[in-house]
Amino acid sequence: MTTLDNFDKNSPIAFFDSGVGGLTVLNKVKKILPDENYLYYGDTAHMPYGEKTKAQLLEYSDKIFKFFEEKGSKAVVMACNTTSSVVYNDVKGKYNFKLYPVVQSVAQILAGLPIERLGIFATRATIDSGAYQKEIAKYNPDIKVFGQHCPQWVHIVEENTANSRRSVEIIKSDLDKMLENNPEKIVLGCTHYPFLIDVLSKFAPREMFIDPAIDFANAIKHDLTKSGLLKDDKTPSVEEFYVSSNPRNFKSASKMFYELTKEPELLVFD
Ligand code: DGL
Repeated sequence: MTTLDNFDKNSPIAFFDSGVGGLTVLNKVKKILPDENYLYYGDTAHMPYGEKTKAQLLEYSDKIFKFFEEKGSKAVVMACNTTSSVVYNDVKGKYNFKLYPVVQSVAQILAGLPIERLGIFATRATIDSGAYQKEIAKYNPDIKVFGQHCPQWVHIVEENTANSRRSVEIIKSDLDKMLENNPEKIVLGCTHYPFLIDVLSKFAPREMFIDPAIDFANAIKHDLTKSGLLKDDKTPSVEEFYVSSNPRNFKSASKMFYELTKEPELLVFD
């Protein structure tokens, strides 16, 4: 069980995702909390999470959370919509750190948008869970939410092929399908998808797309501040990156969005 009184405010904030996607969140958090220490785990061996069962996602998350506990993390950011949607309710309160899930943290802000029709692009598991719909409806039952699964997008990002002709065709075709619902805004409800914003913006106005990472980062800062958990020693910020397969691929895919300050290390759990 969580013991809320023993966090060390100078210990790291840990992030995890199935691959490079969570870097879109780390990027935003680092901008507003530049002095913190960061840990990142990309579970690339099990990517895509969006095609996994709840039992599998619980197993992967448990191993990663135990590793983060060993590292003394004060907070863990579920920089992954899929695990936030599918396993957050089962894992919250079970580990010795603060836990921040992306979907639940931004739902209220999305629900408050002055619009009637909201699109959500996300993985199959996120869409099937109905988590965005449920969380948004808690605050605004009147907003109409259209979820759509984009089966190829995570692969396009991990393979770093966003600009190939084939990828652009796939992205455009998924976008066209979503636009048939006439959404006023579309949430990029998978942390990999903001890597594709330039391609999406060729076919629809950039302002139409919402990257929840901005509001998520603000919510994390707000809560750490309120809890008295911001780092206050004067040591320089350090980062560590771990992946469960192919560190070289992680490094090259991250390049289009994030400057890794350290080589990613291979770390596989038994
Ligand atoms: N980036 C993750 C998400 O936000 C997982 C994508 C995947 O591996 O399917 O859902």
